[in-house]
Amino acid sequence: MNETYTDILSLRAIRTFDERAIDPADLDAVLEAARWTGSSKNRQNWSFIVIDDQEQKDRICASGDFMTPVRNAPAVICLVQELEGYEFDTGRLAQNIMLAADAIGLASCPVTLHREDVAANVLGLPDGIRCRYAIAIGYPAPGAGATKMGGRKPTGDLVYRNRYGQ
Ligand SMILES: Cc1cc2nc3c(=O)[nH]c(=O)nc-3n(C[C@H](O)[C@H](O)[C@H](O)COP(=O)(O)O)c2cc1C
Repeated sequence: MNETYTDILSLRAIRTFDERAIDPADLDAVLEAARWTGSSKNRQNWSFIVIDDQEQKDRICASGDFMTPVRNAPAVICLVQELEGYEFDTGRLAQNIMLAADAIGLASCPVTLHREDVAANVLGLPDGIRCRYAIAIGYPAPGAGATKMGGRKPTGDLVYRNRYGQ
């Protein structure tokens, strides 16, 4: 099977990381993959805030309910939705970041910033600019793997033909 295809199927959210900082060349490579993500009308109405400062990481943790991956990671990439940006585009960004990270030996986990007002304050976002999702990223801890939540619904439960339920 084609390597890209198997990478897509085997990509897992990883929540435990090695302590070492991310090599700047690796981080640049991930951000380059993010930059090349397609967007509606090619607006690219996004930006990225990389947090690698421990105190700032602690502050952003207050904005989400399930932030263990961020606490464990050396860095977090906050996905900023600029004015007239779309959440769908942010989702595509997240997947590109995760796949690119995986391809170069980094592990990652998406996180939700449930309290967007807290996130906006911590990140210094101007009015109307949002950040609801971020990606915790780093080299995987030895033995790091997916948590028990993994697995997927069978295709037969998900795919219909022509009309819902058929
Ligand atoms: C939009 C989105 C938000 C998520 N938010 C969190 C989060 O806040 N904290 C967390 O630990 N995992 C979060 N995850 C990771 C999911 O729990 C994970 O992708 C899911 O359990 C499937 O895991 P697997 O891909 O390793 O099989 C999020 C995933 C997505 C797609």
